[in-house]
Amino acid sequence: MTQASSTPAHPSQDELKTMVGRAALDYVVRGQWVGVGTGSTVNKFIDALADIRHDIPGAVSSSVASTERLRALGIEVRDANAVERLAVYIDGADEIDGHGYMIKGGGAALTREKIVAAQSECFVCIADASKRVPVLGQFALPVEVIPMASARIMRQFAALGGQAQLRMAGDKPVVTDNGQHLLDVRGLSITDPLGFEAQVSQWPGVVTVGVFAFQRAHICLLGTPEGVQTLRF
Ligand code: A5P
Repeated sequence: MTQASSTPAHPSQDELKTMVGRAALDYVVRGQWVGVGTGSTVNKFIDALADIRHDIPGAVSSSVASTERLRALGIEVRDANAVERLAVYIDGADEIDGHGYMIKGGGAALTREKIVAAQSECFVCIADASKRVPVLGQFALPVEVIPMASARIMRQFAALGGQAQLRMAGDKPVVTDNGQHLLDVRGLSITDPLGFEAQVSQWPGVVTVGVFAFQRAHICLLGTPEGVQTLRF
């Protein structure tokens, strides 16, 4: 189930992210478009991807930030609609459990991440060891919502025992790449990620819930002080 590779002594969290970002290159199918996620760990992957940019046609990106980073490194980016199928999608996670179910969206890109993951055959999650949890829910769950529905959705989470807050940037709500708002929900223990995702996704006004169970990871490259562990689900 696991493999370890060499690693520096006492690696920092940043070094662990660099390790898994580079290890993900082994999963990029040469000659094919690659799906690219968002976040600080994915930024390490994008930097590594520049080394093999001549071996792939380009990338489908999950955020404006990743698109800008890819293009700055000379990697072509196409709209998701222009590429029918992706062999692999590489992305980070805020939490990942023993089944490959994840919480994502700490970087506000969850909707496009789920869209690109859905058109990919294999989801490779890259994460440092702090992201591995027994049960999802310690990290506040991100939920992208239509602004006029946010107060009602917050009450619906309260009925489930969660405390939802509107994500703010200063005195204004954070606005996603899709022009919507984000809630962060604390106090949930998500023991049935598939059921939870199915339930919350049906609430009117929910754009995307940050539980990735239907679009779970198939492989996780976990950066640990002992090296990169490869978990297969
Ligand atoms: C972005 O919206 C998220 O889903 C990220 O994948 C997640 O927050 C992990 O980000 P880091 O790699 O920065 O921890």
